[in-house]
Amino acid sequence: MTRVFSGVKPTGHLTLGNYLGAMRRWVVEDQHRSDALFCVVDLHALTVDHDPARVRRLSRQAASLLLAAGLDPALCTVFVQSHVDEHARLSYVLECVATDGEMRRMIQYKEKAARERGGSVRLSLLTYPVLMAADILAYGTDEVPVGHDQTQHVELARDLAVRFNQRYGHTFVVPRATHPVVAARVMNLQEPESKMGKSDDTGPGIVYVLDEPDVVRKKVVRAVTDSGREVVYDREVRPGLANLLEILAACAGGEPAELAGAYDSYGALKKDVAEAVVEALRPVRKRHRELCADPGYVEGVLRDGAERARAMARPTVDAAYRAIGLLPPVNAAR
Ligand code: TRP
Repeated sequence: MTRVFSGVKPTGHLTLGNYLGAMRRWVVEDQHRSDALFCVVDLHALTVDHDPARVRRLSRQAASLLLAAGLDPALCTVFVQSHVDEHARLSYVLECVATDGEMRRMIQYKEKAARERGGSVRLSLLTYPVLMAADILAYGTDEVPVGHDQTQHVELARDLAVRFNQRYGHTFVVPRATHPVVAARVMNLQEPESKMGKSDDTGPGIVYVLDEPDVVRKKVVRAVTDSGREVVYDREVRPGLANLLEILAACAGGEPAELAGAYDSYGALKKDVAEAVVEALRPVRKRHRELCADPGYVEGVLRDGAERARAMARPTVDAAYRAIGLLPPVNAAR
């Protein structure tokens, strides 16, 4: 069966973009058709300035939200990265296969490092893609469903797998990135040219999965639309409007271009978008509330998930240690 791995970084509250663009697909498709692992990648949250209590809180919340969205521990493995030592163990070995130049070419590193102008950039931000490669390669992953901003990182994981296999013998499955076909890109309601990301934590343009219905309505009503009056679907010329139509299509079904024809004012469209989003998020919020009332359940899922993940990763990581020349520990030697 196809092995699927993806990760959520606990650096901000999860957004409508995370939900419609990624999580919902993991729920309705990936967990059913494949042997899937979904990981709260908390080690990655330490690559930028962070508050320990917040990372802890967001990790717990991300795990609960994955379950609230419908990931079923009977079908897939949900766990926290730092609970499974194999990620860090493999990451070091892959650092011995990756090059400095390769790391510095990563677009996300260049962008983030540039933003830290004057401040200090953590070394882990530079090596982050290697840890991500370890996340992926440790599990013999075939497919990595991610946003387009992660394509380059998955390419690196491929390169490292191929290089390692060539030098040290076949050890890793060579993974590939997969991208959802539609409704993948929810844009910021205030800046429809940029993605509704979770890391830029403030902003009225971002709808969070856990936003109260009235907050959702307010954000949608205030969404930037484009000059012009009729409702048409045109991503180039009317990005704000196109985003709203795509969100509506993703939440309530239908095609953005066709939906456009049903509206003669921005106001009416916004009203429907707001209600569609509120309804799409309602069951997730409800289930999340139930899970918060039962922390023992979530802990149990994460404990089992980590155990299962460890058992899957261990043989591959051990094989990589042997292949690259590390002496087996005495008790494991035959
Ligand atoms: N880098 C990814 C992001 O920022 C998160 C991530 C870490 C990930 N490890 C992964 C995604 C492994 C897929 C597979 O969104």
